[in-house]
Amino acid sequence: MIRKITIAIDGYSSTGKSTMAKALAQHLGYLYVDSGAMYRAVTWWAMSRGWVSDDLIDEAALTQNLPDMSLELTTLGDGILEVLVDGARITEAIRSMEVAQRVSQIASIPEVRSFLVAKQQLMGLRKGVVMDGRDIGTVVFPQAELKVFVQADPQVRAQRRYDELTAKGQIVDFQDILSNINDRDYQDTHRSVSPLVQAKDARVLDNTHMGMAEQLALLISWAELAIQGEH
Ligand code: DC
Repeated sequence: MIRKITIAIDGYSSTGKSTMAKALAQHLGYLYVDSGAMYRAVTWWAMSRGWVSDDLIDEAALTQNLPDMSLELTTLGDGILEVLVDGARITEAIRSMEVAQRVSQIASIPEVRSFLVAKQQLMGLRKGVVMDGRDIGTVVFPQAELKVFVQADPQVRAQRRYDELTAKGQIVDFQDILSNINDRDYQDTHRSVSPLVQAKDARVLDNTHMGMAEQLALLISWAELAIQGEH
């Protein structure tokens, strides 16, 4: 029988990690978990409760209520990931600029991280999982058989994000997107709890000049080697 492994895909925001992680999981028949969607869901939930205002977060209210928050991720037949909080479907709402602007702050709260890391570890208990995020290869699954660290030039990432949002009919400003990407890179790499760092044993994938098909082919070849135990 072919052994199942754990695949951790970490890297900067808007590098296309989720798209390639999902495609890799579909190819392997593995469970796909978008851990960023979990941090976005907590952010949306805190905003909807009124605990996040212009420059203040009511951390006490947020952390006290966190254990009662019900968060579900389900993948539909067509590979679409549905996010439900307390039974409400928030799949699209977590992708808004408002959530994007707040999520790094929420993700730096230690209680939020330990709450979500515990859920993520449970999801990976049976192996056969591809999870993407910032600390998957370093904190969530330090024993993952394959770790990938994804990076790309910030201007290229901003242009991809701009094209994606305008294609959905959203009116957005390129400079706003670029500064949001730069802010998130800074916050993700400088926070004191679980900052984004490349795991020592990660393979680096720089996709500044790569298309999705090429990246996926490379990832599949790495996954096959890791499954055979030839990291
Ligand atoms: O991957 P994403 O852009 O949807 O992630 C949203 C935010 O969540 C990002 O700014 C950093 C944070 N995050 C994190 O701190 N740890 C993770 N494992 C995943 C995401």
